[in-house]
Amino acid sequence: MAEKEITETSEAQIAVHWGEEAYYAPSVKFIAQANMTDETIYDRFSLDNFPDCFKEYADLLDWYKYWDEILDTSDAPCFKWFKGGLINVSYNCVDRHLAKNSNKTAIHFVPELEEEKVEHITYRELWVRVNEMAAVLRDFCGLKAGDRVTLHMPMVAELPVTMLACARLGIIHSQVFGGFSGSACADRIVDSASHVLITMDAYYRGGKILDHKEKADEAVKIAAKQNQKVDKVLVWQRYPGKYSAQTPMVDGRDYFVNDLLKDYYGVRVDPVKMPAEAPLFLMYTSGTTGKPKGCQHGTGGFLAYVAGTSKYVQDIHPEDVYWCMADIGWITGHSYIVYGPLAICASSVIFEGVPNYPDAGRCWRIAQDLGVNIFHTAPTAIRALRKIGPDEPAKYDYEFKHMTTVGEPIEPEVWKWYYEKVGKGKAAIVDTWWQTETGGFLCSTIPAIKPMKPGSAGPGMPGIHPIIYDDDGHEIPPGKGIAGNICIRNPWPGMFQTIWGDRDRFVTNYFARYCKDPDSKDWRDWPYLTGDAAVMAEDGYVRILGRTDDVINVSGHRLGTKELESAALVVEEVAEAAVVPIKHEIKGVEPDLYVALKPGYHASEELAKKINDALVREIGPIAKARKVWIVSDMPKTRSGKIMRRVLASISNNRDVGDTMTLANPEIVEEIKKMVKG
Ligand code: PRX
Repeated sequence: MAEKEITETSEAQIAVHWGEEAYYAPSVKFIAQANMTDETIYDRFSLDNFPDCFKEYADLLDWYKYWDEILDTSDAPCFKWFKGGLINVSYNCVDRHLAKNSNKTAIHFVPELEEEKVEHITYRELWVRVNEMAAVLRDFCGLKAGDRVTLHMPMVAELPVTMLACARLGIIHSQVFGGFSGSACADRIVDSASHVLITMDAYYRGGKILDHKEKADEAVKIAAKQNQKVDKVLVWQRYPGKYSAQTPMVDGRDYFVNDLLKDYYGVRVDPVKMPAEAPLFLMYTSGTTGKPKGCQHGTGGFLAYVAGTSKYVQDIHPEDVYWCMADIGWITGHSYIVYGPLAICASSVIFEGVPNYPDAGRCWRIAQDLGVNIFHTAPTAIRALRKIGPDEPAKYDYEFKHMTTVGEPIEPEVWKWYYEKVGKGKAAIVDTWWQTETGGFLCSTIPAIKPMKPGSAGPGMPGIHPIIYDDDGHEIPPGKGIAGNICIRNPWPGMFQTIWGDRDRFVTNYFARYCKDPDSKDWRDWPYLTGDAAVMAEDGYVRILGRTDDVINVSGHRLGTKELESAALVVEEVAEAAVVPIKHEIKGVEPDLYVALKPGYHASEELAKKINDALVREIGPIAKARKVWIVSDMPKTRSGKIMRRVLASISNNRDVGDTMTLANPEIVEEIKKMVKG
């Protein structure tokens, strides 16, 4: 299939136009200290050695009982890893480090306000806090293994404490990104059938303290309308002992965690020996249909995969200070702030705030003050930091040995700034391509073994075997320069187990397209469809071009266009809505929203604002449209389908192509005039 066709089938695709760049070699100093320098790792993890190769990752963990079967495919494509094994995630991330590293910092919590002190939480202190919180969950809330709990927490140390307390008991946590609205939180409460919501009263963002508790009230109210009763709302206090929100606590429903903890001081909770294949957490993400789907991640497989990749790709050593600037409300934070790094006894930084507050030097001051030497962020943050302070890093005395980029394609020009200015030409960079569903990295270089190539993620990780298919299911061999749908040939331990409560959707969305035999129990028949378009170069390095489905990636935040459209349709006046991505210098893309009104209503500035406010209210500030265009009609096919591709071309000032097959070609000129002004 031609690249052009793929671009056209995808309305939500980020078009990446750069070509193959030259290699950059990691420094001799980096290689000399790296965790993985043995090139035979690729042979050890070849398809011939699959699935047994993943024992190597599992052996980084402590097991109560080893597995009977490394990969159970009897319910394909719901694969079970390390079946029969017993393990506890909280034990592996905390308890087992006490013998040698009790006094080592597990978490550096950096509040947004610089006048507030950084908190350094040792492994021993983390253990105490996790135990006491587990006691609250078990004894006060009556929760047990398999129950779901929704967390709606900001970037604070209490979030990993809560997650690890859940994991200690086998409670399945579902953390909702703190920036999401009460309404988005409610959808996730309902879908996961949670009876307990854990939140925080307030947090800082851009120098302001935000009332977060009000979102909990809204979430509980909306969930109740959908017959999901939340019995208890546990409220952490940003300042223990002080309430920083305006909304009143509800008697008999809302409890301050800091008060509850007083009854459990000194209580120790034995980690529950969980089956390796038990669910560990849900992470909701956007897909092609309106409703976010709960990606269900398992216990043993997930932890083995994130521990292995943290060690070999993030190159974390005991003496390193590791800072991943993602939000724990997204998968990156789960895998690479909390579980992976803590499983290998890292010191992990948690930063409450935004990278540009109070000024462009904030990140580099944090790096300097804490001695951070491994830095992990997204292209959107790199672009923003470059724009506001291109020469800022040089003013600070820090030295990164390693840097990661994740979440979006990174332009070679931006990559080079990251390498030269942020990394000061000394740090190895890994561009890690993966997804909420995949639990951990799919493609990346192993930094001491493979050279870097700006703009390309790299080859498949050891044990991850990517393949690019055309629309007819033929493999596109490497080096053809042709884009196609990137899939993974084989399952791996970090991959999600299913969509919570919706196995059919799991199979249809991710496997049906290239499945060779729907009754097959052989993993070879079930390639995993990622939903991304990609090109594979001769050397096996993969360049990701963007999504081929109705997903857009705004500042590295994944949003479904259908989700945004349904939020707009909540507004009484709106008859039809279409969201298209428009290129943005910093965010990668932004949503542009087109709406047509019901008869009898008229366009106005106020109405456009009301519609945009609905997006923020229903989803959160990240969903805000660049512009709401109220049009008299949508361009449509004869069968009535809205042609988002045409709208996307107009928004991005591109040629709209042939519109004569539309049912209403005349509307295109009208919309063009409107958008061009
Ligand atoms: O399109 C790919 C893009 O982000 C999507 C996954 O988003 P999410 O589930 O929110 O997970 C983000 C963090 C893992 C992918 O389908 N993406 C992710 N990493 C990269 C990327 N695109 C290009 N290069 C990357 N390194």
